[in-house]
Amino acid sequence: MNKPVLLGADLQRALFAADMIEGLSALPKATPPKWFYDAEGSRLFSEITRLPEYYPTRTERALLAQVRGDIGQAVGPGRTVVEYGAGSGDKAVTLLHGLERPRAYVCIEIDPGAARATAEEVAGCFPDLPTKGVAGDFTALDGATPAGPPGTRLGFFPGSTIGNFDPTDAAMLLADMREHLGRGAQLLIGVDLVKDRDVLVAAYDDAAGVTAAFNRNLLVRANRELGADFDLEAFAHEARWNPSESRIEMHLRAIRPTSVRLDGRTFAFAEGETIHTESSYKYTRDRLAALAEAAGWSLETVWTDPKDWFALALLEG
Ligand code: SAH
Ligand code: AVI
Repeated sequence: MNKPVLLGADLQRALFAADMIEGLSALPKATPPKWFYDAEGSRLFSEITRLPEYYPTRTERALLAQVRGDIGQAVGPGRTVVEYGAGSGDKAVTLLHGLERPRAYVCIEIDPGAARATAEEVAGCFPDLPTKGVAGDFTALDGATPAGPPGTRLGFFPGSTIGNFDPTDAAMLLADMREHLGRGAQLLIGVDLVKDRDVLVAAYDDAAGVTAAFNRNLLVRANRELGADFDLEAFAHEARWNPSESRIEMHLRAIRPTSVRLDGRTFAFAEGETIHTESSYKYTRDRLAALAEAAGWSLETVWTDPKDWFALALLEG
C-alpha cells in the first residue's frame, strides 16, 4: 500500500509547527485536533474512553458487538477493511468477527505507536489475516491506493472522529475516502448523536480531569517538540456546548495575560482569550444523511443503540 503521507519525525514536527503558528495567528485562535495524538495523547484518549462520563466509546462498542452480524450480511464476504484513525484494535476486532472471510486489514493512524499496536492487536486475534498499520494522515490521502482489489474494500471510520471536522471539511473528507477506497466501496462510519446538553458537557469535562489533561497535552507537546514556552498553569480547560453549531467545543482559556514564544515568534493572550482546540459535532439522522449525500455516498443502513445516542451508518459508493 502506498503511504498516504510520509510521517517521519522531522516532517511531522514541521507540519505541527506550521499548524500551531497558523492557529495561534488566527483570530480567534484555533488549532487542529490531530496534534493531540502523540504517545501521551493516545494514552490519555484511551483513559478517556474508560471514564464514566465518556459514553461514546462504550455505546458504540456495545452497538457494534450487537449488530456485527447484520453488518457482515449487509457488507458481504471477502472484504479488505481500511480503518481511518484506529487508536486501538478493539473495534476492528469486533467488526472482523462479524465479517465473512475478511481478506486483509489496514489502518491509517497519525500516531505511529498506535498504528503499530493496532495492527499487532488485530494480527494477534486473526493470525491468518494480512494486517498493516500505516503511520499517516487520513486528511492527506492524495492519490494513495489502499490494499486489496477494488470492489472489496470496506472503509471503517468509528469513534465519531468525523465529528472533529467542520461540516464542509467533513464532507470533503468522506469524499476523499470514497476516492481512496475506489469503486464499489463501502464505508462504515460511527457518528455521535445530539442528546441532552448536560450529558454532552460532562463527557468533555470529566470529574477526574482526564479530558483537561488531554487538552493541555497539546501545549505540553508543543513545549517539548517545538521548543515553545507555554506557561501550562496559565491555561484552563473549558468544554462548551454550542447549540447553533450543534457541537461541543474544547478550549484552552488563558486565566491571566500570558504569551508564548514559538519558532522565533511571540503570541500574546489577553486574560480570558482561548485557543479553540477541538470541535466535536453531534449529528441528527437528517444531518448524517445530508453529509453522506454531500460526499457522494448513499446511506444504506443506520443502526443505533436503544437510547439513540450513537449511530453506525453503512454508506455505499
Ligand atoms: N477510532 C478510535 C479512536 C478515536 S480517537 C475509537 O473509535 O475510539 C481518534 C484517533 O484518530 C486517534 O487514534 C488519532 O491518533 C487518530 N487521528 C486523528 N486525526 C488523524 C488524522 N488526521 N490522520 C490519521 N489518524 C488520525
Ligand atoms: C476522537 N474524537 C471523536 C473524540 C471526541 O469525542 O470528539 C476526542 C475527544 N476529545 C475529548 N474527548 C474525546
